[in-house]
Amino acid sequence: MTGRLNPAGHPSWWRHAVIYQIYIRSFADANGDGIGDLAGIESRLGYLSDLGVDAVWITPFYPSPQADGGYDVADYRAVDPVFGSLDEFDALMAAAQGRGIKVIVDLVPNHTSSAHPWFRSALAAAPGSSERARYIFRSGRGPGGAEPPNNWVSVFGGSAWTPVPSPRGQPQQWYLHLFAPEQPDLDWTNPEVRREFESILRFWLDRGVDGFRIDVAHGLVKDPAMPDLDERYPSRGPAPTGHPYWDQDEIHDVYRSWRAVLDEYGGNRMFVAEAWVASTQQLARYVRPDELHTAFNFDFLRAAWDADELRAAIDSSFESMAAVGAAPTWVLSNHDVVRHVSRYGGGEQGERRARAAVLLMLALPGGAYVYQGDELGLPEVADLPDEVLQDPTFLRTGGASRGRDGCRVPIPWSGDKPSYGFGPGAASWLPQPPQWRELSVTRQSERSASMLHLYRGALEARRRHAGFRSESLQWIDAEPGMLAFRRSERLTCLVNASELTLPVPNEVRGAEVILASIPLRDLERLPPACAVWLATAGGGADG
Ligand code: GLC
Ligand code: CA
Repeated sequence: MTGRLNPAGHPSWWRHAVIYQIYIRSFADANGDGIGDLAGIESRLGYLSDLGVDAVWITPFYPSPQADGGYDVADYRAVDPVFGSLDEFDALMAAAQGRGIKVIVDLVPNHTSSAHPWFRSALAAAPGSSERARYIFRSGRGPGGAEPPNNWVSVFGGSAWTPVPSPRGQPQQWYLHLFAPEQPDLDWTNPEVRREFESILRFWLDRGVDGFRIDVAHGLVKDPAMPDLDERYPSRGPAPTGHPYWDQDEIHDVYRSWRAVLDEYGGNRMFVAEAWVASTQQLARYVRPDELHTAFNFDFLRAAWDADELRAAIDSSFESMAAVGAAPTWVLSNHDVVRHVSRYGGGEQGERRARAAVLLMLALPGGAYVYQGDELGLPEVADLPDEVLQDPTFLRTGGASRGRDGCRVPIPWSGDKPSYGFGPGAASWLPQPPQWRELSVTRQSERSASMLHLYRGALEARRRHAGFRSESLQWIDAEPGMLAFRRSERLTCLVNASELTLPVPNEVRGAEVILASIPLRDLERLPPACAVWLATAGGGADG
C-alpha cells in the first residue's frame, strides 16, 4: 500500500483534482435571510470533506447590486454584507484549507458593476476623459449619434450599447456591455485597467487563495475597429475565429502577465478559464505553458448522451491539451446551463444517464468539476413562476428565454418542509419544489442506492485506486454505443451510452468491479445507460 492519492497535496494538484462549484447564493444560508453565505459554506465543510472533493470554487461574493447574481462587481477587494465579511472569508478559507480543501475564487475582469466607483466617475466625467477611458464609450451613429455605435448584441438579449446623457450639442455617447447594462465592459487596452487587475490578483493571493476562476476569459479584448457583426459571427454560441469581440489574439498578453504574477506566489496555485470558444484548439491557446493552467471543457458538457459525440469531445480535448502540455478538465453542469439530469432526458432516464456520466467523467484523466447539487441528482426546475425569476436574460429577452434560475435553486439539505435545511427557516430566494424533500442530503444519506452515495463512492475510489494516477487513456475496441478505455493496466472504464444491452469486450470479462452506476447482474453484458469501473490485471487498490 502506498497510501491514499491526495491530489490536493500534489504540486500540480489541478491536473487531477475534483473541484466543487459553490454557487454561494444557493448553497447554505447561515443567518436565515434566504440567501446563502460564507458562514453557511463553513458550516457545511464537513459535508464537502466527506464527499471527498479536493477544492471548492466559490462564485462571486463581492459587494454587488446583484444585477447578474454577483457577476456585477462593485468592489473587488471586499465581501458583500449579504454574504458575510472579509474576516469570515479568511476564517472559511483557513477552515477549508485545514481540512485539505483548496479554495478558488471567481475573478470578473471583463466588466465591472455600473455601481463600481470607476463607472460612476466615468459617467460624471466628460467624453474623452481618463475616467471614461477605463470603459468603452463611443459616439453613436447617425444624426446626433442617436443610433448605437454598431450592431453588437448583449449575451442577455438586446443591444450591447446603452446611451448616456451627453452635453448639449455633442453627439450621443454610448457604453458597451456584452452582458447586462449594469455590467459595463472595461477597456483592456488601457494600462490602468491591467494594473488594477494585477493588484486585485495580489490582494487575494496575499490572503492565501489557491486559484482563480476567470469569468468570460475570452471576452476581454475587442477588435479596435469595432466592425458590425455579420452572418459569419452569430451573437450566441461558441465564437468562430475572427469574431470582433470573442477570443481575440491580444487577450493572451493579459494571461501571460497574470501567470507571471501567480508564479511569484509559488507554483501551487492555479487559474481556470471560462472561455466559450470555437474549438478545443482555440481553447488550448489559453493554457499554453506561460498562460493559464486549465480551462473548462464545454465540448464535453455540450455533448449529447451519445457514445460518438462523447468520444469525439474526449479525443479532441486530449489531443489539444496534450499539444500544449496542459491537463484536460471535465464538467457536466454549472450555474449557467440546464442541469444535466434534465439535459439527458429528465426523470428516471435522465438520472440513470447522469449516474453513468459521472463515472465516465471521473474515470477520465484530468481535473473534474462538480456543480453543487449534481451529487444529489437535482434536475432543472423548469416551472419557476415568472415573478421569482431574477436572471437578466428573462427580462431582456422579453421572456423568450427563461434564463438560468432553474439550475440555481437552493440546495435541499434535510427536513420535511422548505427550505429543507438550506437555512434555519422557510426562506430561500428561489422556491424549492416539494419533490426535493426526497432528494435532500439527509434522505440520500439513508439510501445506499442514492446519487449521493454514488458520488461519495466514486470520489473515494478515485483517490484510493492506483489506476487513477496515470494521465493516459487507451481506447478498447467495443460495440458501437459503448465507450471502453483503460487507465493504465489496472483500471478499465466501460460506459454503455446506447439504448441497447451490449456485450462487454472479451478482454475485461472476469475483472473485478470497483464501482457500477447501477447494480449489475453479471459482467457479460451491460444494460443501457450504465457505467462500470473495473480493476484489471490484478490492479485493485493501492499498489
Ligand atoms: C459568466 C458567468 C455567468 C455570468 C457572465 C457574465 O458566463 O458564468 O453567470 O452571467 O459570465 O459575467
Ligand atoms: Ca444568508
